[in-house]
Amino acid sequence: MSEINVDSSVLETIQNFKLPNDLTFGKVLSPFMIECDYADGKWGELKLVPYRQLSLDPTCKVLHYAQEIFEGLKAYKVKGEGPFLFRPDENAKRFNLSAKRMAMPELPIETFVKSVEAMTSYSGHFIPQRSGDSLYIRPFMFATDNNLGIKPSETFKYLVVASPSAAYFSTGSVNVLIEQEAVRACPGGVGASKTGGNYAASLLSMINAKKLGYDQVLWLDAVEKTYIEEMSGMNFFAVYGDKLVTPELTETILEGITRKSILDYAEFIGLKVEQQRMSYKELIADIKSGSCTEAFACGTAVIITPISSLGFASGEKVHLKEATGKVTMKIREGLLGLQEGRNEDPFNWRIKVEKKF
Ligand code: COI
Repeated sequence: MSEINVDSSVLETIQNFKLPNDLTFGKVLSPFMIECDYADGKWGELKLVPYRQLSLDPTCKVLHYAQEIFEGLKAYKVKGEGPFLFRPDENAKRFNLSAKRMAMPELPIETFVKSVEAMTSYSGHFIPQRSGDSLYIRPFMFATDNNLGIKPSETFKYLVVASPSAAYFSTGSVNVLIEQEAVRACPGGVGASKTGGNYAASLLSMINAKKLGYDQVLWLDAVEKTYIEEMSGMNFFAVYGDKLVTPELTETILEGITRKSILDYAEFIGLKVEQQRMSYKELIADIKSGSCTEAFACGTAVIITPISSLGFASGEKVHLKEATGKVTMKIREGLLGLQEGRNEDPFNWRIKVEKKF
């Protein structure tokens, strides 16, 4: 793969970009993006260009048939260390699994990694330096054929944008609604792919959850409405003393890279881990009996966020013994320290990227 083609007109804008003091998640955008087009059965060159509005034909396929996939990963530069990326090759592999399922072309792993490395290295001087903050990088691909026929597009655009961001949740812990009516994904569907429609399908339940005083929704399996799946953008873990339990992967759960890393990291620090079918009824009983002591949600954006309570639309609710549990926080601190360059990295997950500015 050749070098990235840099539009030099954007370099001064990048150099002059000032990081605002008040960051939230995903609102401030880096002043450039990376672009690559697919046509005639092959990918073109990677280009670094000014951040700009896109011009789309009203019949652009993605607007009608949602042929779209995305990824999320972070670059860290806490207290001047780094910048570091965390397992970008895992995002690249997952991107291609999503691409396959959505009838889209795969992107070579090295093209994906090169694009997020370029995003990181040119953003060097405005990656926030407070622990928990980061440059949130959003690679995505969408169908660009212009016509209303329902058939796979033959042209696609791959873009990478990035946002200097604070941690996703400002609150310390979240209250979670167990969704017993709507479902997020069904067997044979696209639940294991990171495609926008899965997130769109979650929004109505999210609105209802907020009305009922909850922060997030926990999805159950579509067939028996019994087994815990995931939380849209987050995976779920319960803590039983020194054991972590998380739903085993199915075709209706998106495999989180944070989830995968926690499983290895937890074993490394001496915890037991189990991936199994988890019935929500058993979980509630275990919380009531005190055997399940903590629960948390994890994902790239949220890192690891403690769950303080789980409940239902009926109003019935159980509170975790520890709203901000010790085991949860130990894993959070350990993994975040590894990502941010404060802790050793026995797994070689952290990638140092050369800064351009
Ligand atoms: C991520 O952690 O990257 C997610 O998937 C959450 C995002 C949709 C905000």
